[in-house]
Amino acid sequence: MSEKILITGALGQIGSELALALRTIYGEANVLSTDIQEKEKVSDPYYERLDVMDDAQIEEIVSKHKITVVYHLAAMLSATAEKYPRKGWDLNMESLLTFLDLAKDKKIKQLYWPSSIAIFGPDTPKVNTDQNALAIPTTVYGISKRAGEFWCNYYHEKFGVDVRSIRYPGLISWKTRPGGGTTDYAVDIYYQALEEGKYECFLSENSALPMMYMDDAIRATIELMQADAEKLTVRTSYNLNGMSFTPKEIAAEIQKQIPDFEITYKPDFRQAIADSWPASIDDAVAQKEWGWKPEFDLGKMTEAMLANLKVKLNS
Ligand code: NAD
Ligand code: SER
Repeated sequence: MSEKILITGALGQIGSELALALRTIYGEANVLSTDIQEKEKVSDPYYERLDVMDDAQIEEIVSKHKITVVYHLAAMLSATAEKYPRKGWDLNMESLLTFLDLAKDKKIKQLYWPSSIAIFGPDTPKVNTDQNALAIPTTVYGISKRAGEFWCNYYHEKFGVDVRSIRYPGLISWKTRPGGGTTDYAVDIYYQALEEGKYECFLSENSALPMMYMDDAIRATIELMQADAEKLTVRTSYNLNGMSFTPKEIAAEIQKQIPDFEITYKPDFRQAIADSWPASIDDAVAQKEWGWKPEFDLGKMTEAMLANLKVKLNS
């Protein structure tokens, strides 16, 4: 029997692409997309409105649709959470605990929940940050993700819950725009390059951050969820490497295709967030345990982003 999958936050940057990928594997009708948006405003026939702060509604949907696997993506990202700290904490934490409890009570059998490079802090070694590096986050978002990792590990150790997680780097995609993150500049820059020929970056030119193209992130997510449980030793969250670059380097890559493209720098409050995160990630544990290997580097991603966005923006 096929799994019955629920995705929360499915209208977001990751969820919108994860739903497509999961539906090609498990069948359209076996993947229920949910988000806070009203059903009438969404064209997807397999969509329901679900506010993840509503425990009763979560239970009702899980029971009604006989859900077996949940990808819980709804969250508030780093830049927005700095503006609304308590709301960010409540959304990111309470909803995770609701799903962990459902798994503990055997109402679902597997849970995916994403963490982030934001769990690391200014005291973390910045280059090739190790899976078990010191992680004292200084953002609300990072604190919520680190605490969430510990809760996942606790429910796995104590109750045998099959919860799996990846510390995504900044994700870059063209289908759905990102919302409220510090790494969003690396998506905006491609839109602005094509639409305006110039971009004012909210991070400084040499701010290196770990990044990944969405196709790699979706593949990693599905590969981890399909991996043999016996091979997995990490139930907090796996480090995952894609690539690492600065605003200056991504601009230079864009200039190979759009020679007149200009970038200027006007760092804002997000600079402090970026400064607290690693510059690059060591993912040796993910490589060893479930065979992770990225396919996209900065050059290949830039070609894909510009080609796909040209078509999107012209249609
Ligand atoms: P996003 O902001 O694009 O999407 C989040 C979605 O959650 C939105 O569609 C929003 O409407 C929905 N949402 C907000 N409040 C809700 C509520 N109360 N009930 C139901 N839905 C609600 O985020 P994303 O980039 O797709 O990220 C998904 C997950 O991946 C998050 O947990 C995020 O922390 C994590 N992550 C993302 C990145 C990245 O670069 N995109 C990196 C690391 C981790
Ligand atoms: N891309 C995310 C953010 O900037 C990292 O988790 O918030």
